[in-house]
Amino acid sequence: MIPLVDVKAQYAPLIPELKERFAEVLDSGRFIFGPEVEAFEREAAAYLGVPHAIGVANGTDALVLSLEAMGVGRGDEVICPSFTFYATAEAIARVGATPVFADIDPVTLNVDPADVAAKVTERTKAIMPVHLFGRPAPLAELAALGVPLLEDAAQAFGAEGIATTGICSTFSFFPTKNLFALGDGGLVACTDDGVAETVRKLRFHGSSDKKTFELIGANSRLDAVQAAALRVFLPHLAGWNASRREGAARYAALGLGDAVELPVDEPGHVYHMYVVRSPGRDRIAATLRDAGVSSAAYYVTPVHLQPAMRFLGWEPGSLPETERAAAENLALPLWGGIGGETQERVVAAVLAAAGVAA
Ligand SMILES: Cc1ncc(COP(=O)(O)O)c(C=O)c1O
Repeated sequence: MIPLVDVKAQYAPLIPELKERFAEVLDSGRFIFGPEVEAFEREAAAYLGVPHAIGVANGTDALVLSLEAMGVGRGDEVICPSFTFYATAEAIARVGATPVFADIDPVTLNVDPADVAAKVTERTKAIMPVHLFGRPAPLAELAALGVPLLEDAAQAFGAEGIATTGICSTFSFFPTKNLFALGDGGLVACTDDGVAETVRKLRFHGSSDKKTFELIGANSRLDAVQAAALRVFLPHLAGWNASRREGAARYAALGLGDAVELPVDEPGHVYHMYVVRSPGRDRIAATLRDAGVSSAAYYVTPVHLQPAMRFLGWEPGSLPETERAAAENLALPLWGGIGGETQERVVAAVLAAAGVAA
């Protein structure tokens, strides 16, 4: 079976180096905060071109702590897409604010700035674009609306032009992400000194000295062991992302577009997922499974129609492009280092599944 993502293929060549780094952490006896975490935070901030990077326990906490540090709470509205992982909107509700869903651009699958603009009210405290599947959201158009941005960059470490517009940008290091940990991990990148200081406090019970507790915070830390792994992986990220981009170009060159609608390329896209579209999605996915090719349909029930969000009152049909993308999208195998032969097998299987002669 060809997997959707082969994370182990990416880290297997680095196992000897990982073992050395883990041995150093074991010898140091420092597992919480300490030099590994601080070094990773410095290296990540430099990579992203931001003044602050703060390690946290996962990408969901990164969102919650960012919203809190940006002063978002009860009575506020935050505009976000519904075609995203549930955590995007869950974080907004967790801080007591109201998620307001904007529809997506059917070409990019990212939030549509025109629909965001139409949904801004005097209660809108932030706009939360998602760089979906590794494609940068339209930050310049969103920033022009004059509302603070929080970028959900969970799927887009290394994408061009991200993380420097928003007050906060959040990352997940879940093992399938472009930059991944060997377990859970997350990061808040921050362009504002005061907000960054608050995130730092919030991740440790609202304290900066472990004696005085100034805020109601959380226990949300990036482990030293995970920071050590991330420091091994970060120098390889550009190569992995370049390989993902080559893989995307190869799919197009192999004629995949004869069977399904391909993602439109743009230079900053790092293809966290390679997502095609077809009205025959479910039939194609079933045939691919029988042919030994993994695929995955994402966000089949978009967030505005999830049971937990029912209290917000969104009805089917209220976000037409989101609902169409939910019915038509299909992610195909892609990872840093995927081979041409594997992709040829995928393309042959998709062409056959769609009834197109190779
Ligand atoms: C868009 C988006 N936001 C937030 C998250 C949450 O990240 P985590 O799983 O690390 O909590 C994810 C990860 O799956 C995601 O894809």
